[in-house]
Amino acid sequence: MTIKHAYRRLGNTFVAEAAGFDLRRPLAADDVGQIESAIATYGVLVFRKQPMDAEQQDAFIRQFGPGRTPLFKEVAGASATLIDVGTVDDSGNPISKDSVQGWYNLANRLWHTDGSFLRLPIRLTGLLARELPPSPPPTEFADTRSAWASLPASRQAELEGLQVIHSVIRSREQVGFTADKFDPATLRDHPPVTHPLVRVHPQDGLKSLYLASHASHVDGWEVERGRALIAELIEYSTQSRFTYAHSWQPDDFVLWDDRRTMHRATPYDGTHPRKMRQCAVHETVPV
Ligand code: OGA
Ligand code: MN
Repeated sequence: MTIKHAYRRLGNTFVAEAAGFDLRRPLAADDVGQIESAIATYGVLVFRKQPMDAEQQDAFIRQFGPGRTPLFKEVAGASATLIDVGTVDDSGNPISKDSVQGWYNLANRLWHTDGSFLRLPIRLTGLLARELPPSPPPTEFADTRSAWASLPASRQAELEGLQVIHSVIRSREQVGFTADKFDPATLRDHPPVTHPLVRVHPQDGLKSLYLASHASHVDGWEVERGRALIAELIEYSTQSRFTYAHSWQPDDFVLWDDRRTMHRATPYDGTHPRKMRQCAVHETVPV
């Protein structure tokens, strides 16, 4: 019997490369479960050479649950679950820094988990490298499960049970996209939500810190005190010993678990286009 699929840890990191998949085709039912287990184990999976078109990428992610609808219509891709992330639009025109998409790109440079400002947050995200500049900016990932596990028990006891308020306004205001710049309907449909600071992963029962640029303050605490705690924990969790920088190759598809990782884009102001396509599924029950 030949081994169809394999997961190989990338060096001394928490991330694995998955081999033996053609994600353009429907997965066998047990492959979905197998990828779910692998994503729970590694947090981030790298699939090489997956030149999916929009329809294939949309179909791929929907095998894992209900597809997400993009928050900003300006970044919506070719199908309902997809988001175009990049320096140019589909016609090749540069994204203006003052457009909603420009602000979106800037906010991606803050450490975050996707969609934590939703009542049913994003659970898994996948990003496909469609077109890369000569020295593509890496995307960085942080392992918030190891960060949690490394805390002394006394510190863990102080943090367990805390509830955090998340809001899309919080991440956007940090890059200058203040509440007055939002479409009023977006704000009305996305009031602040509360999630636990410490999550338990349903697959293995392991805990992780649930942090994001959208994390605003701690429920029941003075706002500034909560903000200081969130900033401290983000800094702690993103030390180099907990992080992995993904160096993109063309047609790489990176799939990550938003329940136990954070990630961020790194700066890129080059003239050569960078085009990525993102897909995601959200939770079906509150965190
Ligand atoms: C995302 C994201 C980072 C990048 O697509 O959710 O944060 O490097 N992208 O494009
Ligand atoms: Mn993101």
